[in-house]
Formats: sequence, structure tokens, C-alpha cells
Amino acid sequence: MNQPRILIFACKWCGFIGADAAGKKRASLPSQFRVIPVECAALVETDAIIRALAGGIDGIAVLGCHIGGCRYNNANHTAIKRLELLQDLLDTTGIGSSRLLLSFGTAHEDYQFEEIINNFFNELILLPPLDPWL
Ligand code: FES
Repeated sequence: MNQPRILIFACKWCGFIGADAAGKKRASLPSQFRVIPVECAALVETDAIIRALAGGIDGIAVLGCHIGGCRYNNANHTAIKRLELLQDLLDTTGIGSSRLLLSFGTAHEDYQFEEIINNFFNELILLPPLDPWL
């Protein structure tokens, strides 16, 4: 059975709080994910996502604050635009935009984080494994 590996970039003001709370609650989550806290979702570089996918990570989630709630001059608005362009690129190359989950303002509670990551896992498990190409 395919067990997707997920890398999560979580803004420390939102998604990371949800991840931390889900961990403390011992929420039921897939075993193969790692959370990288970031100061703001806008700091997640597209090349970091591409390198992770190239290295065999099956799915990347970027969790940030809701629009209007970013601590850094609405930087997440720009980040969403940039990451949506990356999703287009992933579709164009055949990798698939479904491997990049963008979630802003929806994962700051433990149950929200749990639901988002479990749903993402259930989508990824239907996809073929992504063989590393680097
Ligand atoms: Fe959370 Fe910018 S501070 S997305």
C-alpha cells in the first residue's frame, strides 16, 4: 500500500499552532508527515517545494494565516499568487497540482489541522508514488 510522505510548511502564527495542538491532543494523523514551522507562509520558496517533490516527498502542504490576518503586511496574499502559479507549473509538468495543498486561515485549530492533513493524505494515497528524480 502506498503510504504518502507529506511535508508541511506551517506558519507559526496559524498552521503551526494547529499542528502543535493536534499533537498535544494526540489526534489521529498519518504517520509519515513532518512539519516545518516558518515565520510566515510567504517565506516558503517555490524551489524548496520543487526540491522536496524531486526528492520523493509525495505532497507538500503550505498552511498560513487567513487573508488579512498575516503579520507581515499581507505577505501571504503574494505567497498565494506565487504558489498558485507553482500549482499551474505542476499541472503542466504532469506532476499535478493536487500534490501542493494551499490552506490559509483554515488550520489554526487542532481539529482543523487534523481534518486538512487527513483529507490531503487520503487524496495523495490515490495517486501513484512520486519517484525521486534528483
Ligand atoms: Fe502567517 Fe504571514 S504571518 S501567513
